[in-house]
Amino acid sequence: MKDKNFAPASLAAQAMGWIDPVTKAVVPPIHMASTYQRDEDNGYSSGRIYARADNPTFDQAEATLAALEGGAKALVFSSGMSAATACFLALSPGDHVVVPKVMYWSLRNWLATFATQWGLKVDFVEAEKTDAIAAAIRPGATKLVWLETPANPTWTVSDIAAVAELARKAGALLGVDSTVATPVLTRPIEFGADLVMHSATKYLNGHSDIIAGALVGAREDAHWAKLRAIRAQLGTILGQTEAWLLMRGMRTLYPRVQWACRSAQSLAEKFANHPMVAEVLYPGLPGFSGHAMAAKQMKGGFSGMLSVRVKGGERAAIATAARVGLWKRATSLGGVESLIEHRASIEGPGTPCPTDLLRLSVGVEECNDLFDDLDQALRRAHNG
Ligand SMILES: Cc1ncc(COP(=O)(O)O)c(C=O)c1O
Repeated sequence: MKDKNFAPASLAAQAMGWIDPVTKAVVPPIHMASTYQRDEDNGYSSGRIYARADNPTFDQAEATLAALEGGAKALVFSSGMSAATACFLALSPGDHVVVPKVMYWSLRNWLATFATQWGLKVDFVEAEKTDAIAAAIRPGATKLVWLETPANPTWTVSDIAAVAELARKAGALLGVDSTVATPVLTRPIEFGADLVMHSATKYLNGHSDIIAGALVGAREDAHWAKLRAIRAQLGTILGQTEAWLLMRGMRTLYPRVQWACRSAQSLAEKFANHPMVAEVLYPGLPGFSGHAMAAKQMKGGFSGMLSVRVKGGERAAIATAARVGLWKRATSLGGVESLIEHRASIEGPGTPCPTDLLRLSVGVEECNDLFDDLDQALRRAHNG
């Protein structure tokens, strides 16, 4: 599929058009080998030595993801956390990083604890305000600026292009957690990002049946080699079966995300006028603070993620989640089944998440069914 300029959705559907040269199979095998034979001349003509470094089953998923993001290379990891933390572990103790105050809670905790103890100087800023990032960057000392956009769980939106420019001028790299946007909606490298990170557990795989992560690099340079080495040294590689499932899931990435965006937009608009809802947080709503930036940066939709703040506070929010039938009460996001979560409960003490907030991950069920189910739950929770 290389000689034609096919759209990303076509590249994804056909996993770059791969056909097995021997069997003509349209789907690749799973390579289970953990090691590879050395040649008689003591070399490794296959380029493969040991499967803690890589595995042929990764090849398609990595090539496809790099193409979808418009990057030079991709690496799949054992989890989104191992992909994200590799970006910080590739720095040196004493380096300064600027990260969002509102971001995936587990990465935030790791940065505040392990990364800080290890010697990184971590500044948490309101990353939806470019001025706040500009003020925090220390030219020469700042080595990495991190964004998550839209950011969990209030979906604040950061200006990738403006921050990329600030980072570049200061000699820092820009990494973007684009788990929620996916390459369907935003390609951060086109806005100047150096690294794109995904929890591939979410939309890329899309079926809530693997834990996986991925990085995409704008360039295959010395820094990229370091990230590859960290994966091989720590052994934070993806399992072979998981890599195969990831590629299978990515084939339907475009229709799944497009469907989820349509439903999320419709649900956001309907719940914004619901008598038991105080506020809907969704970048697709014109009244949302990050809407204008999202409209500039996200093409074809505003993601399948939204949050509703329930009238009656924490008690009413938890009671609402308890009364749904179709929505499933579970953490995670980006799967074909819709999930609902009282987010403050899982983030725990110190969370910036409002206690009346329910996070919704919209799947591919019929949208009216999703509305009716949450509507009845809100009403029943309100009536005791
Ligand atoms: C935005 C975001 N980034 C990173 C992660 C971490 O990914 P994983 O659970 O695959 O380690 C998550 C997981 O929920 C997430 O939502």
